[in-house]
Amino acid sequence: MLIDLIAGARPNFMKIAPIIESIKKFKKSGIDINYRLVHTGQHYDKNMSESFFKELNIPDPDLNLNAGGGTQSEQTAAIMIGYEKALANKPDLCLVVGDVNSTMACSIVARKNGVKVAHVEGGIRSGDMNMPEEVNRIVTDSITNYFFTTSEIANNNLLKSGIDKKNIFFVGNTMIDTLLKNRHRFKAPLIWYLDKLQKREYIVMTLHRPSNVDQEIQLKRIIFEIINSTDNLKIVFPVHPRTKKNLIDLNIVDDRLIYTDPLSYLEFNYLVENSYLVITDSGGITEETTVMGVPCITLRDSTERPETVTIGTNELLGTDPKRIKPAIEKLKKGEWKEGRIPHLWDGQAAKRIIEIIISEYNLN
Ligand code: UD1
Repeated sequence: MLIDLIAGARPNFMKIAPIIESIKKFKKSGIDINYRLVHTGQHYDKNMSESFFKELNIPDPDLNLNAGGGTQSEQTAAIMIGYEKALANKPDLCLVVGDVNSTMACSIVARKNGVKVAHVEGGIRSGDMNMPEEVNRIVTDSITNYFFTTSEIANNNLLKSGIDKKNIFFVGNTMIDTLLKNRHRFKAPLIWYLDKLQKREYIVMTLHRPSNVDQEIQLKRIIFEIINSTDNLKIVFPVHPRTKKNLIDLNIVDDRLIYTDPLSYLEFNYLVENSYLVITDSGGITEETTVMGVPCITLRDSTERPETVTIGTNELLGTDPKRIKPAIEKLKKGEWKEGRIPHLWDGQAAKRIIEIIISEYNLN
């Protein structure tokens, strides 16, 4: 069988890497399973895409749709047009991961062309329809054939929306497969040495959600509040391209604030693993901090990954910057929760996914 694997934006690459590896292993053992890697081009900067391919040993894409940039609709449309052309050569299955525009665009095109869809990370919901990702999740799941889920909560969301139980497969988390496999390879970025960073003496912050970064006033308040709440801690801020546009105008400078371009996977996670605290509005990072046991504050009103809060080390703070200081005080007093690792986040999710596909398609 042939599976199209869709990857387009930064958080897709670490989810797709273990799936490719698993397909290769089963193919080597004699199973008739092949893949075609389709890079939509949603993310195109070297440090948003290429560095992940290199570090995670992801093979070069078989197809590149070069559909990056533009508005939500322009980008989605360009991906759809590009992928429809690619379907001149039809696979047996289109496997999408996560919740980015590439995920939704390719799943729509696949279904309309009679190709079944598998959604890795299906069923998660934030309940916030103002997030483009929530729209992507709901649309994708409404046309998905095989749901591969990361949690019982995701399973229940799908069941509640009327999905047949036999199409839901609770497999664990492919993002964590990659984290566990590469943890021993994490490496210090150059700024570790240039800025004389020390273990547990800095925080890592990342911001890229439109609700936090598209209004300059909100972005400014968050950064000032973090500076004012962190005493002597250094603040490392890898800046996403979306955030950079507004940050340049704000020109906020502080001795403890260290800006950097987006870091590679191994470098970023080295920083996270050794940090005192992470402050973020990403979803994937809250899963990684949960597994590494690093305290994490999420600057959002909702999360599609509630287990990082109920089981893990994450605290959902909302978007009011005033709430940052009390949360950091709590950490300083040693009152942060310990956190545990959610069920099946054990490094074997991709293997389970491919085993299920092999069984569903009667390949052995
Ligand atoms: C996308 C995902 C989001 C994910 C995030 C991780 C959607 C709806 N959003 O958001 O879920 O958490 O990726 O990074 O799919 N840009 C560059 N270079 C790049 C990539 C983007 O300059 O390599 C620019 C784009 O041209 C655009 C902006 O950054 O102006 C935002 O990119 P876009 O892919 O639309 O969304 P993200 O905010 O990155």
